[in-house]
Amino acid sequence: MKKIAIIGAGRVGESTAQFLATRDISREVVLTDIREGAAKGAALDIQESASLFGFDTRLTGSSDNKIIEGADIIIVTAGIPRKPGMTRADVMETNIHVLDNILDDVLKYAPDSMLLLVSNPVDTLTYHAIKRTGWDRNRVMGQAGVLDSSRMAAFGALETGLSAKYINAMVMGGHGDAMVPMTRFTTISGISIEHFLSAEKIEEIIQRTRTGGAEILALKGNSSAFDAPAAAIAEMVEAIAYNRQSVLPTVAYLQGEYGQEDITIGVPAVLGERGMEKIIELELNDTELNFFNKSVSSTREELITLSKITSKI
Ligand code: 2OP
Repeated sequence: MKKIAIIGAGRVGESTAQFLATRDISREVVLTDIREGAAKGAALDIQESASLFGFDTRLTGSSDNKIIEGADIIIVTAGIPRKPGMTRADVMETNIHVLDNILDDVLKYAPDSMLLLVSNPVDTLTYHAIKRTGWDRNRVMGQAGVLDSSRMAAFGALETGLSAKYINAMVMGGHGDAMVPMTRFTTISGISIEHFLSAEKIEEIIQRTRTGGAEILALKGNSSAFDAPAAAIAEMVEAIAYNRQSVLPTVAYLQGEYGQEDITIGVPAVLGERGMEKIIELELNDTELNFFNKSVSSTREELITLSKITSKI
């Protein structure tokens, strides 16, 4: 990959630039932010760690989105974060307006790129980006499930005392309290998590995963999580850049999969050089389907709010 653009040099954007550079995925990483100094300063700070980490990525920052020209992938982290007590949906109206301005520039400067949405509410912002750009669904996706699954894996490691490296968790559904951590598809070296933990412990992990973002926000007070979200973004971008054909939970636009149409929500998908190349349709049992459908309903409610906002624009 030649060029990766990150829009929004806040904490998530800056950590993402750092992780991408450290992995040496692309020749260039550009960061933009309405606060010019923030973008330039973040880029330079990370650049100055190049010899220590041994990467050759060149980083540039600007307040002018023109620098995204020719980017292969554009990661959108701009927008207002939640404050303690707020839901992800509470920041929707502001973040839709922020996204609209960004999409104008994306269409102008990088019409052949891919978009990875991160700002919240991510399911709804991904939907809006698909509709506004008119691009095929493989080129527009969102990050949520990789983070939520990584949280679930971390809690599994803490609870069992076993290595996190071999824990493979799967969280589907929307990136909200109704997200669906999937016990049946969560394993430690291929062995079901149920072999290691009691049903009560697994239920505790599921609840902690669902509120994982709020837990960090409450602890930090003045910031949402940014390290694990940025690592999750880097994982998705690497899968695309190296055409790894990785199966990762991805906010994707459904066209009949899981019995749903015209909605963006987290499902396992194959990520490769063409972006979100394929949705993996799992056979869910009745309980799983019930939880998934509840999450679909809450995302659909967000989409109704979105349509009220966009009808005012
Ligand atoms: C999180 O889950 C902020 O949505 C983000 O931490």
